[in-house]
Amino acid sequence: MSTDRRDAPRIIDYGASTYRTDFWQGQGREYEDAVERVAIRAMLPRKGERLVDIGAGFGRLADLYEGYREVILLDYSAPELEDARQHLGDGRYIYVAADIYRMPLATGAVDTAVMVRVLHHIADVPAAMAQLSRILVTGGTLLLEFANKRHLKNIVRFLLRRGASPFGPYPVEFAPLHYDFHPGWVEKRLTEATFHVERRRSVSLFRAGFLKQRVPLSWLIALDGALQRLTAAFTPAPSMFFQAIRQQGTVARPLERAALFRCPDCGHEPLEAASGGLLCAGCGRLWPQVNGVYILK
Ligand SMILES: C[S@@+](CC[C@H](N)C(=O)[O-])C[C@H]1O[C@@H](n2cnc3c(N)ncnc32)[C@H](O)[C@@H]1O
Repeated sequence: MSTDRRDAPRIIDYGASTYRTDFWQGQGREYEDAVERVAIRAMLPRKGERLVDIGAGFGRLADLYEGYREVILLDYSAPELEDARQHLGDGRYIYVAADIYRMPLATGAVDTAVMVRVLHHIADVPAAMAQLSRILVTGGTLLLEFANKRHLKNIVRFLLRRGASPFGPYPVEFAPLHYDFHPGWVEKRLTEATFHVERRRSVSLFRAGFLKQRVPLSWLIALDGALQRLTAAFTPAPSMFFQAIRQQGTVARPLERAALFRCPDCGHEPLEAASGGLLCAGCGRLWPQVNGVYILK
């Protein structure tokens, strides 16, 4: 069962990056943050047992998960999660440093999964989606955001012969481990992973410096919010949100907390609580908890 890491997909490592301050705080992205929140509020089930935010980073969106009894913030970068923990504390939060391809959550562990601004770093989308499908209960919700290549600006660039065609189905790696996706291609991969896309929103249509400088922020947010659903079929905006429902499976309820984890090395589940971390009865490996973060990678 263990993954041969030589064949594993490439992973972007945010390491000890200061994503919070480099990209968000004081960086003029209040509009992007606000319109993503509009979409999430509209599409996320308000209440639930357990939610996982995959690629949660420093927990930017954690305040939106108030209706959930437990919230797992999972990211490849342990320092990002430590930053999150410093701001959010423990309480309902569980911090897990892990790789989506070697997902350490047990089968049917969560009723809701959120993945925002992460798919654009994913080289092997089917492998990632298979894991999302496995950890969700039947009828569970996946809220997935991805970078849309078939947006208005790209179409205009193409018509002016200044860019490649945005109409082809395949992902474009425009920088190392940075991908733009065709919405139809993403939907097909979701269907193959036993998801059904129920709702769609086209988000961040006014992501342009000249607009953000000239038009009041509250107007841009209100207009974006009003257009997200109406324009979803034409996908004019650079960011796309899908609400997808897990169709088949046998697990109908999220697991108890004790049965939450699975060994990313050998696939045995559940892991057992042990001094200093979690023990795998399958392969004997001890996965440590360091500074409040489970290190399962
Ligand atoms: C652009 S940040 C987005 C953070 C957060 N979702 C947000 O919207 O503020 C992308 C995050 O995805 C994480 N990530 C990328 N590849 C991953 C992988 N294979 N497994 C787990 N996390 C991954 C990175 O560590 C990073 O924190």
